[in-house]
Amino acid sequence: MATLSRSTLRDDQGVPVYGNFINGEWVAASSGGTFENTNPAKPAEVVGQFAASDAVDVDAAISAAQEAFPGWAATSAIARANILYKASEILNGRLQEVARDLTREEGKTFREAVGETSRAVAILRYFAGELQQPDGEHYPSANPNTLLFTMREPLGVVGIITPWNFPVAIPVWKAIPAIAFGNTVVLKPASFTPLTTVHIAEVLQEAGLPAGVFNLVTGSASRVGDPLVKDDRVVAISFTGSDTVGNGIKAIASGRGAKVQLELGGKNPAIVMADANLDHALQQVINGSMMSTGQKCTATSRAIVDRRIASEVTERLGSAIESLRVGDPLKDETVIGPAISEDAATSIQGQIDRARSEGIQLVAGGTRPSIDGGHFLAPTLFADVDNASFLGQDELFGPVLGVIPVDGLEEAIAVANSVRFGLSASIFTRDIASALAFVRGVHAGIVHVNSETAGAEPHVPFGGYKGSSSYSREQGKAAREFYTQVKTVYFDPPPA
Ligand code: UN1
Repeated sequence: MATLSRSTLRDDQGVPVYGNFINGEWVAASSGGTFENTNPAKPAEVVGQFAASDAVDVDAAISAAQEAFPGWAATSAIARANILYKASEILNGRLQEVARDLTREEGKTFREAVGETSRAVAILRYFAGELQQPDGEHYPSANPNTLLFTMREPLGVVGIITPWNFPVAIPVWKAIPAIAFGNTVVLKPASFTPLTTVHIAEVLQEAGLPAGVFNLVTGSASRVGDPLVKDDRVVAISFTGSDTVGNGIKAIASGRGAKVQLELGGKNPAIVMADANLDHALQQVINGSMMSTGQKCTATSRAIVDRRIASEVTERLGSAIESLRVGDPLKDETVIGPAISEDAATSIQGQIDRARSEGIQLVAGGTRPSIDGGHFLAPTLFADVDNASFLGQDELFGPVLGVIPVDGLEEAIAVANSVRFGLSASIFTRDIASALAFVRGVHAGIVHVNSETAGAEPHVPFGGYKGSSSYSREQGKAAREFYTQVKTVYFDPPPA
């Protein structure tokens, strides 16, 4: 395999060419092939050429991770923490550069990209600190001579498959706890956003992470994801993405006995009660539904509104949504960037057209702004949505919000729960009894009272109910649960 110094290489057009990061080195795909990554806001701009890898490269990465595992697992937790602290400082020093590249390949606004990169810095710091926390428990034993305790040990080689919508936060929140707790990693990033993960690999390399502990292999789901999921040497798989892909991965990986963690879709509700502070509630609903162009699994896609205020809420949401500025996400004044791809934009627009043809009332948006040939969609609001309709049930993964009028809290909670997903949910109210009934009654893994459905702090469990997850949780202490296994030790002195 040819060795690359990651970005100094350029093709004939002057476009940077990036390799895989395997065993501490930047290498081209074994086939020599590359794929192109373009800017969704101006597709004529090529962000870079990336390694079009296949099973041979995946095999090399898994071998490197397997070889590095015993040494890394035996490295003290404090020494591992020091590398992660250093990585957090390096990433923090490069915040603007990483955020800019993130925006160029993903399309979220630069402000949001800075926020996401800062979150990745916080995650690195958190897991460095988490390594100083207890990792076992002491128990009384029936035998007075026995010292009885548990300790946690790493799993081995972990395969991680990440989506394009949080190109730095999600790879970091999966790979960093895996590494922190002594595992080694092969990461396959989404093909829309490989450059951000190239930055992560560089940061870890510069922080002094030993060769083979973190390996990056870029390429398609079928040529890279499949062999990674199928390989018996990969003992755990963590995946975030669509439920169709996730459930396919789970069938294969758990079929061969691997530990599996899935984070899938959402159809997240925000209930707006008649007593809510409307200025605040509507701002939060707009943020939850439209930031990152609605492309978050935690995005709000249903505003479930007390019928008595539904027309006022719809009107106010409509005019606020109409005024959100769509355009180049690198510009300060832009609030809504493009969808990730032309296919995604066409598909979301198709759902918008379907909703209109089914007679659902369009209040705002519904069009495709034409800017620099980018994959733009106007932020869109529908009124009087029937929760049973496809618009009330299916995840569109775009800037589309539907208002669903209801009569009272009980119906609001029933409607909130009547979808196959259960990731996040919000209520806006001043009434503590309503808030508590909602917290207790809603089927969702992340519940907000008077704040938007999106967002995730690094030190608390993240994950969903029902079709949104696989019961396991990410981040915080939950990450230790997933990335380690428990050893129970009965420790007796030798008989005198
Ligand atoms: C957030 O709401 O800030 O893929 C994080 C997703 C989620 C992460 C959401 N797994 O959108």
